[in-house]
Amino acid sequence: MSTANVILGIETSCDETAAAVVRGGREVLSNVIASQHDLHAEYRGVVPEIASRAHAERVLPVVRRAVADAGVALEDLNAVAVGNRPGLIGSLLVGVAAAKALAWALGVPVIGVDHVQAHLVGGLIGPAGAAPAPARFPAIGLVVSGGHTSLYLCESTVRIGRIGATIDDAVGEAYDKVAAVLGLGFPGGPNLDKLARTGRAHSPGFPIARIAPESLDFSFSGLKTAALYAFRGVPEDERSRRKRETRGEASTALLSAPDVAATFQGAAIGAVMLKLERALERHAECRTLLVGGGVSANSLLRERLGLLAAARGIDVRLPPTEYCLDNGAMIAALGHDLLAERGWKGDELSMSATPTTAV
Ligand code: KG4
Ligand code: ZN
Repeated sequence: MSTANVILGIETSCDETAAAVVRGGREVLSNVIASQHDLHAEYRGVVPEIASRAHAERVLPVVRRAVADAGVALEDLNAVAVGNRPGLIGSLLVGVAAAKALAWALGVPVIGVDHVQAHLVGGLIGPAGAAPAPARFPAIGLVVSGGHTSLYLCESTVRIGRIGATIDDAVGEAYDKVAAVLGLGFPGGPNLDKLARTGRAHSPGFPIARIAPESLDFSFSGLKTAALYAFRGVPEDERSRRKRETRGEASTALLSAPDVAATFQGAAIGAVMLKLERALERHAECRTLLVGGGVSANSLLRERLGLLAAARGIDVRLPPTEYCLDNGAMIAALGHDLLAERGWKGDELSMSATPTTAV
């Protein structure tokens, strides 16, 4: 087997310890993901210290498995890419230390990759011999995850500029918080998605923040509160309760959990689609849409993106679920593109992790 440009990608930014081997930047030879969901479930959220300890225990076994599954030897690797921003600092440092040590020992370049930017290449990769056709640029990029909700204008996978972002919660964060209010298990997003399929979206729905007529930014905190009030009731002090009763008005009727889920999902995905359509209209030269991040696994979003692709004739690159969620393959793929752009010169071994993104 040709081993040209065989890159190991390591991902430890949050609660998945992941490693993958990718050939030529697009062909995924292996993709190993060790999820820590069971360790964080009782806290209904990721506990940073638990996450970094689990990464430290798992990162080498996960890397060994990825290399073995790919049918290559460590010596066949031509570079090591690692997600070094943004994320939980203790978690990122585990992956960065492992990547640097491995690259130094093998005498190959190491490259730090932005996790959010890497989500955009999830729809450009595939199994060996079945990688998707190359995408045309310029493209619009949409990242919808637990930490980010952003729109990008992409000249290529490595030249991207942000054109919109959330001003408060990320859409995945809103999903997780509303799921917790509804008593659904962690991680809440996929559970809320399932429950929403059994409920009825009420009309008028929960509010969609438009922010300003031309804005490409998002806001999900008001929507989260609307869901909370619809399920538990609007908080009322004694004075307002008496006033309302004097007016002869009943308190707002509560919605069932499935109906809250369906109404919330309609508004959350509606908000994403609204700003996405605005971005596509504003940048009509973009005939490709790159989508990534955990929320791109959402059933309603996938349905709507399918309709959008058909209606506008846009090439929508929507990854299969294993490349939507955090994974090492997207890190290796973007690492490949960055190295190609820089003439295969990697980062210095002084490269470190940062909790914030530059894109
Ligand atoms: O990209 P990701 O794995 O991690 C981050 O980079 O944040 O995204 C995780 C987020 C979580 O908030 C999770 O609840 C959400 O993606 N998510 C979903 C679905 N699957 C995962 N949200 C809505 N519907 C889903 N089907
Ligand atoms: Zn992610």
